[in-house]
Amino acid sequence: MIEDSNQKTYTATSIVRHYAQLQRLQPAEQTLFEELRSRLPSMNMLDIGVGGGRTTQHFASRVKSYVGIDYSAAMIAACKHRFAATAHQISFEWGDARDLSQFANDSFDLILFSFNGIDYVSHCDRLKILQEVYRVGRPGGCLIFSSHNLQSLEHQFDLAKQFSWNPITTYTNLVMLGLLRWFNRAIDLKNLNQSVYEIVRDESHNFRLRTYYIRPSAQIQQLAPFFQDIKIFSWRSGLELTSLEINTHLDPWLYYQCTIQ
Ligand SMILES: C[S@@+](CC[C@H](N)C(=O)[O-])C[C@H]1O[C@@H](n2cnc3c(N)ncnc32)[C@H](O)[C@@H]1O
Repeated sequence: MIEDSNQKTYTATSIVRHYAQLQRLQPAEQTLFEELRSRLPSMNMLDIGVGGGRTTQHFASRVKSYVGIDYSAAMIAACKHRFAATAHQISFEWGDARDLSQFANDSFDLILFSFNGIDYVSHCDRLKILQEVYRVGRPGGCLIFSSHNLQSLEHQFDLAKQFSWNPITTYTNLVMLGLLRWFNRAIDLKNLNQSVYEIVRDESHNFRLRTYYIRPSAQIQQLAPFFQDIKIFSWRSGLELTSLEINTHLDPWLYYQCTIQ
């Protein structure tokens, strides 16, 4: 099952070590952090899929209360070690985003699921996560997460788009295309063109993870029953996408910000 193998990968020592040394906010996170800065002191925050605590160091000292959860016990242990000496009120606990029953309804003003953590469960479980986030989030509160972009995957799968004036770029693109096709033999460009989401093995952590990619327009529809004021930000530039860009943007993943209804 997708969940079991991904969860196992996220408990591997080398992978936990990788996330425990990450420091910087990604450009879209920086944009959203600046936008929220003045509201942070009044916000109770839940950081889902906290990993090695990259986002903890930016948010935890600025919010009213901070809880980081992860379904990898090894990631939680790494966070407890990393922030052992901190003076702020921080708590880390094991938790699975699909079942947040340890938290009461309307508990959080800010819920973050950064760096595509939501992409490592099945489609049904993804919908469960959104429902759980809606339940534990306070109406008017904010959800921020990122997710892989199916438009970028289509581009990577398309042989015609791999050629560049630079022979090294062309060579790298073709090797990557060969690997992508090898690890995803059941999928072809035609399937992708017709899909609104797809679960694939991509290059992250050497093709070990099965990762959910979605069209931004479909992600908006998925969010619509529970969330409003949905905005999408380029991971790379940190800028908000215009409505014209939503169907064409090619960043490998995008950040979504929305208000809990
Ligand atoms: C790509 S890592 C990102 C870690 C961290 N948020 C960061 O930005 O550096 C994704 C994290 O999400 C966690 N994760 C994935 N699915 C989860 C779930 N259903 N419940 C809780 N954590 C989950 C993984 O264990 C992993 O630590």
